[in-house]
Amino acid sequence: MMRALFAEIEAAPGVERESEPARPMKPRVELPHPIPYQGSKRLLAPRILSYVADRRFRRLYEPFSGSAAITIAASHMRLATEYVIGDSLASLAALWQHILSEPAALADQYECLWAAHEEGSIEHYYRIRDAFNQQQDPAHLLYLLARCVKNAPRFNRNGLFNQSPDKRRLGMRPTKMRCELFGAHVLLRDRACVMTGDFEGTIAGATGDDLVYMDPPYEGTSTGTDKRYYESMDRVRLIRALEGLDRRGVPYMLSYDGQSGTKRYGDYLPEHLDVKRIELAAGRSSQATLNGRNETTIESLYVSRSLLDRPRATETRRAV
Ligand SMILES: C[S@@+](CC[C@H](N)C(=O)[O-])C[C@H]1O[C@@H](n2cnc3c(N)ncnc32)[C@H](O)[C@@H]1O
Repeated sequence: MMRALFAEIEAAPGVERESEPARPMKPRVELPHPIPYQGSKRLLAPRILSYVADRRFRRLYEPFSGSAAITIAASHMRLATEYVIGDSLASLAALWQHILSEPAALADQYECLWAAHEEGSIEHYYRIRDAFNQQQDPAHLLYLLARCVKNAPRFNRNGLFNQSPDKRRLGMRPTKMRCELFGAHVLLRDRACVMTGDFEGTIAGATGDDLVYMDPPYEGTSTGTDKRYYESMDRVRLIRALEGLDRRGVPYMLSYDGQSGTKRYGDYLPEHLDVKRIELAAGRSSQATLNGRNETTIESLYVSRSLLDRPRATETRRAV
């Protein structure tokens, strides 16, 4: 299956292409995933983390966390002692804070919002959307993400959430949502903290004992109307931040550019960054499917030299 997907897109010269998952690390248990989020790395997480599988870190930073899929998978593997979840979308960061500190209240709020859809499903969604755009309540955001088309948030030029409801689905049922919220809470409570704001501030304290995983918006996906993310990412600033991590000897991994069918998203990172690029087959593109096309996606995973060179620490590995 993986080979067939890859075969559709020609390999880039001189780049490692994962011909099959680096190491099958599919978790034996289904991991919690409370925030439905287009672009989530939930399915890719085992393969991304397979590149650091036998190392252990003091802290894992995920400064573009979204649904924090890498943090959840890493915490399940006990990859680090502490976890930092960061996002510049304040309501999303607040949602993570609620998951860490008061999952029961959040689950109750979600249940109330979900149950109220019977009043008139579509109108109810638009009422919640208006309320979210005025108050930025994290429970409203959770409801909107669970209920909107393809769990794909969209924002207008003024930063207002403008995605439509999925007319065929009502979003995750409250009983399931409660399980997912508590599952994530149990995995991360006492080990994780949340930072709201720009990624550079979130990773400012990272050291050589830590790992930074970054999944910024690809170039070109967050400009104009109907932006995929609330903010776009300036490539020059991102490259400067990576240079800074290299100077400080901070190991990092970055999911950045990609290709869906014949369309490329973003340029490869420049050669002066001493990173290794690995091509991961990421399955069928949900965005293309949304637009009625059937396309394969390939994503670049960049692994810093300091991570590749870091001695393996199998002997200090904790049992999972
Ligand atoms: C591609 S998504 C990350 C998806 C995530 N890996 C997951 O598994 O769900 C990018 C995230 O970065 C956030 N973001 C955009 N610009 C940012 C910035 N300058 N600093 C921090 N976060 C940012 C967006 O709000 C969005 O949640």
